[in-house]
Amino acid sequence: MQVTVEVFRYDPDTDESRFDTFVREVDPKDRVLDVMMAIKDEEDGTIAFRKSCAHGVCGSCAMEINGLNCLACQVLIQDLKSKRIRIRPIKGMKVLRDLIVDMEAFFAGLEKVKPYFIPGEPAPATEYHQSVKDRAIFDETTKCIMCGSCTTSCPSFRWFNREFIGPAAFVKAHRFIFDSRDGGNEERLGVLDDKNGLWRCHSIYNCTDACPREIDITKAIGDLKRYVVIHR
Ligand code: SF4
Ligand code: FES
Repeated sequence: MQVTVEVFRYDPDTDESRFDTFVREVDPKDRVLDVMMAIKDEEDGTIAFRKSCAHGVCGSCAMEINGLNCLACQVLIQDLKSKRIRIRPIKGMKVLRDLIVDMEAFFAGLEKVKPYFIPGEPAPATEYHQSVKDRAIFDETTKCIMCGSCTTSCPSFRWFNREFIGPAAFVKAHRFIFDSRDGGNEERLGVLDDKNGLWRCHSIYNCTDACPREIDITKAIGDLKRYVVIHR
């Protein structure tokens, strides 16, 4: 089948942006990343975008495809149900070049919730034990690949306030706050209960819709809101 691919271009040297159009013969089962790679290899080697694993694991190929944040390596052409494919950088971040954005604000939000294990006190004499039931509580939020699709589809972040730590940070906070072995919840509570924390979330569900790992982010945020109300 033939598709028309419109790719956002931005040149930081001239500060000019435009869409470049490519007409391609593709297989309906091609992924958008395959098409992007073919365009880069065969038509315009100057197009800049991030990708690494090509299998939905590294999170680097997040882009806006026909208006929705997705991983380019996960979306099949046939699933777009359109012969016109418009590709833009994920919104809310400074564009560095073409589809590459500055992820600094995103990672700054993640860092604030201390997205790593903080040992509980007192430390056990041998290993930390955890039941299967306790592990299941945060199983879903271990699946985040930090692609940024959720945070950059959230209007609270994208349009109003980039100090808002955003849904991905809440997913990371959930993963550690509900880990029975972790002892760092006091340190995370203040960040979550801050003016740029949980209460800027208005349960719009954009984040949940955008997540390529199908994490129920809005539910995780609800779990955190309850936790904060009970423990603050
Ligand atoms: S929660 Fe989902 S959308 Fe958000 S950063 Fe993680 S994988 Fe990406
Ligand atoms: S290239 Fe790694 S997630 Fe798409």
